[in-house]
Amino acid sequence: MNLQEKLQRLEQQALAEIKQTDNLEKINKIRVHLLGKKGPITEILRGMRDLPKEQRPQVGSFANAVRDELTAAIAKQKEQVELILNSKKLEREAIDVTLPGVPVKAGTPHIIMQVIDQIEKLFLGMGYQVVDGPEVEEDHYNFEMMNLPKDHPARDMQDTFYITDQILMRTQTSPVQARTMEKHDFSQGPLKMISPGKVYRRDTDDATHSHQFHQVEGLVIDKHVTMADLKGTLEKIAQTVFGAKRQIRLRPSYFPFTEPSVEVDVSCFKCGGKGCQVCKQTGWIEVLGAGMVHPNVLKMAGVDPQIFGGFAFGLGPDRFAMLKYGVDDIRDFYLNDVRVLEQFSQKE
Ligand code: DAH
Repeated sequence: MNLQEKLQRLEQQALAEIKQTDNLEKINKIRVHLLGKKGPITEILRGMRDLPKEQRPQVGSFANAVRDELTAAIAKQKEQVELILNSKKLEREAIDVTLPGVPVKAGTPHIIMQVIDQIEKLFLGMGYQVVDGPEVEEDHYNFEMMNLPKDHPARDMQDTFYITDQILMRTQTSPVQARTMEKHDFSQGPLKMISPGKVYRRDTDDATHSHQFHQVEGLVIDKHVTMADLKGTLEKIAQTVFGAKRQIRLRPSYFPFTEPSVEVDVSCFKCGGKGCQVCKQTGWIEVLGAGMVHPNVLKMAGVDPQIFGGFAFGLGPDRFAMLKYGVDDIRDFYLNDVRVLEQFSQKE
């Protein structure tokens, strides 16, 4: 068999093999073997040395043609195999868009958060800033700066979780007043803030007590703030949360950080003031504490009480929510039983 015949036979065998191969890895192996330096074509061409000179160009160009043809055949087969593999893959990964989806269960903000959101919205609309404060607080801010020195009897009003002598779980959001006043630049304008958050008391949990609950603190400091401003603001809160027809009344009270201090009642949203079970036949429900900021509190925070003054208030979203939705056990807010919480979906 001469070289040309050998090449022809190799060509036929190789073409047949290529056509049968349906695997990219194998195709690549065939390519490396056939066309490589140690492959059969190279091997056959090595025999050219023994040919008479005049036959060599003819055999050489025949060999090139065979190589080109095999190269093209390999490329074509590779393309086809790729096409088939691709379409198989598409088939495998096809998505049936007609299948019904898995329903996603949508949650809803916790009832306490809904009350806080409502209050935040009201105050943001009136140009207040919403400020955060630490729940692990210094005695210094929680008590001293709020005009409650170490042995002040009013400290007993708030049973405290102490972490060390100086560090405690805040019993009120009032320390955020001091923290914010200290930082505020009064040459840039008045301070108007609310601060919602969690507070802690060493109470035994029962229907009306929780060792952890919520407060929203409010503070306005400017040059000519009066008690009438306070009353108007409190009325807004009462009407936003309990209904547009609500009225408020102020009763004298005592807080160390305000003078004068008031306790605030809202006219009963259930009976409109006639007297019912909710308001214990009085027509009024106590909802929050407030007052005009004590000069000592201003002084300690570096604010001159001769020039500046203002009002503060502290309210309890838990109590608001209990009253508004007729929840008679505060623990219902914290047990996180979805069946309870679901009743306060925001879609109402
Ligand atoms: N910090 C008080 C408490 O926890 C609530 C309070 C009352 C806050 C009057 C105030 C205020 O800012 O003026 O009982």
